[in-house]
Amino acid sequence: FHRFPLQLVHGIPLMEPIAQQWGPIENFQARPDDLLISTYPKAGTTWMQEIVDLILVQGDVEKACRAPTHIRIPFLEICSPPPVPSGVQQLANVPSPRVIKTHLPFQLVPKSFWENRCKVIYVARNAKDNVVSYYFFDQMNKTQPEPGPWELYLQMFMDGKLAWGSWYDHVCRYWAERANHCILYVFYEDMKEDPAREIRRVMDFLEVELPPQVLEKIVQQTSFQIMKENPMTNYSSVPSTIFDQTVSPFMRKGQVGDWKNHFTVAQSEAFDAHYQRRMEGTGLHFRTQI
Ligand code: A3P
Repeated sequence: FHRFPLQLVHGIPLMEPIAQQWGPIENFQARPDDLLISTYPKAGTTWMQEIVDLILVQGDVEKACRAPTHIRIPFLEICSPPPVPSGVQQLANVPSPRVIKTHLPFQLVPKSFWENRCKVIYVARNAKDNVVSYYFFDQMNKTQPEPGPWELYLQMFMDGKLAWGSWYDHVCRYWAERANHCILYVFYEDMKEDPAREIRRVMDFLEVELPPQVLEKIVQQTSFQIMKENPMTNYSSVPSTIFDQTVSPFMRKGQVGDWKNHFTVAQSEAFDAHYQRRMEGTGLHFRTQI
């Protein structure tokens, strides 16, 4: 493995192996009962994966713990070098109903998901915490491009030049498309504030009813501390040549407002001014502290 360069796919920077195998991803055949979990990287994907997984097994932790979350819920666009099967190849062998993870912006999601009216859970996280989390991730993930100095990284985030493209376009487009598709839009900050409330929203969306004690168990099992210690969710099964968790753990802090420890006052002000221009009129509002 090495740090892959980015290559544009329909104007979106994606990692080279993904761009080079774009055909099979674009032509992926979704099934009507597929559930897609979509996020901009570092918005709380793994957290939502674990929540959905536990809901679907009615909170039966034993049943859910057969394999790590990232194996139970394949990543649509992953393209590891052979002999590792690509996400598309893995998914062909997954029995229905499948849960699939993606970071693709709305316009790159394979058309078959929309044609089949698949359910989509979108998790969004405020831009400042999202970029800080991504910065640490790019240091530990040895397949992503070298993040370089923070100052430049922040500028690349604002310019939409990081892998999977612009955060602004990503969150706004899914937000706007809620009206046309079966999309449940969930905020990371809301999940932190009241996990039980947000898990109930997910249960309603999936049309699953569970007794209160099972819901409570799912809240416990998906807390940051438990997930950080759980080998099924903390990515410790991924070789350190890919995820070097001595550089930064995958389950790093799990907080709202950590950006304050990384943005200078000047950076925060410049970011806010740019943010306001980009987000004006979208009707989409994030909290940067709770
Ligand atoms: P931090 O780097 O801010 O700690 P993703 O799964 O999309 O890659 O997102 C990872 C981010 O979600 C990391 O953020 C991680 O700590 C956080 N996270 C994962 N599980 C969490 C949980 N149960 N509660 C709160 N945050 C969680």
